Amino acid sequence: MPNPNLTGPKGQLYAEPKPSPDENAFQVNNNSEQYYQSPYYKLHKSQVQPIPPARNGVPAYLTLSDFIPKPLTDAIKQAGKITFHAVGDTGAAKSGPHQSAAVSIADEAAVADAMSNEVQDGGPDGPAFFFHLGDVIYNFGEAQYYYDQFYEPFRAYDRPIFAIPGNHDGMVFGQGSSAPQVPTLDAFLTNFCAASPGPSPDAGAIVRSVMTQPAVYFTLDAPFVSVIGLYSNVMDTGGGIISSQGGHFPLVNDQLDFLKAELARLKPERTAGKRAIIIVVHHPPLSVDAKTGGSAGLMQDIDACCKAAGQWPDAVLSGHAHLYQRFTRTVNGRDVPYVTSGSGGFAATVPQHTAPPAGTVIGDHTLEVDPIVKFGYLTLTTDAKTLTISFKTAPRGGPVLQLDSVTLDLVKGKITSGAVGVQPGHPKPPKHPKPPKPPKHPKPVKPPKKKH
Ligand SMILES: [Fe+2]
Repeated sequence: MPNPNLTGPKGQLYAEPKPSPDENAFQVNNNSEQYYQSPYYKLHKSQVQPIPPARNGVPAYLTLSDFIPKPLTDAIKQAGKITFHAVGDTGAAKSGPHQSAAVSIADEAAVADAMSNEVQDGGPDGPAFFFHLGDVIYNFGEAQYYYDQFYEPFRAYDRPIFAIPGNHDGMVFGQGSSAPQVPTLDAFLTNFCAASPGPSPDAGAIVRSVMTQPAVYFTLDAPFVSVIGLYSNVMDTGGGIISSQGGHFPLVNDQLDFLKAELARLKPERTAGKRAIIIVVHHPPLSVDAKTGGSAGLMQDIDACCKAAGQWPDAVLSGHAHLYQRFTRTVNGRDVPYVTSGSGGFAATVPQHTAPPAGTVIGDHTLEVDPIVKFGYLTLTTDAKTLTISFKTAPRGGPVLQLDSVTLDLVKGKITSGAVGVQPGHPKPPKHPKPPKPPKHPKPVKPPKKKH
């Protein structure tokens, strides 16, 4: 019997033929919190880790049509638009000593199942891929947790999943102080940056193929959109880092040349209105969350590359902060949404008590909505002329609800709608009570006197 699910043009497999019910216990008990006390981590936690170079001779970008069958690519082109998912911080480790494994698993499963259902229900018009915004595996990106935190939760997601690493994917530990027990990003490279597709050594019996990304930073070219993914290193607090920031960090392999080159490569098609450009980076450049509070150095690096290339992104997506937040930044007279959705299932975190209310303008950016501290995910749709970014919450045991959405006119560079609140399909309660029903046999009513 042929597999009814998607098979990529290079034999890639995605969803299970018959996905099992959600699990309620880990296959491998997650005890990696203990490594925060290891000598290597304690000594090196404030230091950047080396970035693995790209595989030799591989271009810095991937093409979506190498991952989905031609009829699906043709259907997207025919429709004239593409839809895809993005979210970070999906790992289902226990977020504290008092949280049960069953709750951790259920929090991630609620998000992953809602995303999988959206793919299933959408068919050729539904999401074409999922771009993970980092922190796939808690707490130290270990290979042995890929089954419980990635392959099993997304076993029914019948589309390719691309990813940039988050700090937890690159963090390392060790019982000595001079070298980590396992090199940084070791398991991430195995599962996302393999030389060829095939089964993962970390997936158990699950069929999803490993991905063939050229490096931990790369671009995905899809019809109507390119997603440039940056790797912002391993700091838990203190912000993301993609360069030495003027010699402050001993980073040999920075991503500035990559970002400038990719923006310049994509500029002609962006100028022609044929594709949108989205930058994704795990640490949010802008944030009001309690832990990170944004990354000024990262923002400056990205800005410098955009200025050098003469090309700015249409939107910037991040994870890391375990909530949803949306800013609009004004750059050269254009509105650019900066959206954080680190809401994939791990440790929802409230924002700072000092967080300003929605509508507050800070320099060149505005906080558009009060941060939403609920698990959920982003769905994006673009035809290269407009871009819509929606946030849906998928709580454990609750309904999937769209809580925010913004639409951008990419030609004018202006937000055309940014509704807050529950969207059509899940109508808001009426603001005013319904008028009382008229009597069955109304008496004739005198016309009211005019007021002046
Ligand atoms: Fe993170």
